[in-house]
Amino acid sequence: MTYKAPTLVPLALAGGQGKTTVALMTGRILASYGIPVLFVDADPQASLTDFLGVDPEDRPTLLEVLTRSPEKLPLFKAIHEVPDNENLFLIPSTDELENANHSLAASPASISVLRNRIQQAGETVKDKDKITANFGVIIIDPPPERSHLTLTSLGSGDRWVICAEANIKGVKSLKRTKGLIETCQSMVPLGEFIGTIPFRAKWTGLNPTRVTRTNIEVMEALVGKELMLPHILESDIYKRAIDELTLPGELGYEALEFPLRSLIERLRPLLGQYAKSVPVLKTEEEE
Ligand SMILES: Nc1ncnc2c1ncn2[C@@H]1O[C@H](COP(=O)(O)OP(=O)(O)OP(=O)(O)O)[C@@H](O)[C@H]1O
Ligand SMILES: [Mg+2]
Repeated sequence: MTYKAPTLVPLALAGGQGKTTVALMTGRILASYGIPVLFVDADPQASLTDFLGVDPEDRPTLLEVLTRSPEKLPLFKAIHEVPDNENLFLIPSTDELENANHSLAASPASISVLRNRIQQAGETVKDKDKITANFGVIIIDPPPERSHLTLTSLGSGDRWVICAEANIKGVKSLKRTKGLIETCQSMVPLGEFIGTIPFRAKWTGLNPTRVTRTNIEVMEALVGKELMLPHILESDIYKRAIDELTLPGELGYEALEFPLRSLIERLRPLLGQYAKSVPVLKTEEEE
């Protein structure tokens, strides 16, 4: 059987919940294992495109992928190399991507438009030549609002992770995002919600602050213990890693990558031959 790269989509129906950070860092970690990763920036804010240091110049972006036919624009033409990382690739975004919302709105099955494009559905491409056979993992970074771009990103996901700040806004966003997944699940029967990552959890010394602890408890009550992933700490190291186009581990803070490594562990069953490139996860205590 030809390998089919799983698509991971971090979701949140509010801004600043950690979607782009989770997408970026998860991809960088997978690439550090030698796994080829294709990012898709589905947000007109184009944060992921910026964070990867890609300038789309006048080459095709996701806008053209979503608005032109595969005959006019074969998918590979919109795939850009990420500078200084041989395992990272990106279908970038620009602020013009906003216009894709109009054409998606006009499509009767907008939820599956991006999925069909990524899977090259109905195209005369041999399975072994498909994009999904030639990457290890595909990661899509959606916008924060309930738009057609968000829906088509959700629809292309094999695995969804909800990012939610460890505060009241994050809890509200988690509730709404979980609701959206539940509404869409029947249209994306193979998609699976694999976890919630609390974002910017605040600790003082050895203990979480009261606000962080309470909100993480509410999140756990909402999704259940099994669907809670370890939290991402509030830390300037993440921001530094983003700015310096690297990972917290490269800055000497490997323990900060633990939540993302835990997320990758949940992808392991889908990784085929690539699974053996992923080191076995040590528990937080062993780290
Ligand atoms: N661990 C961290 N601690 C503190 N700040 C962080 C951390 N990680 C990332 N940030 C910052 O938090 C901000 C929001 O994160 P991010 O862009 O990942 O959220 P988002 O959900 O993608 O936002 P948007 O909805 O705007 O796309 C970013 O500006 C980033 O620099
Ligand atoms: Mg973002």
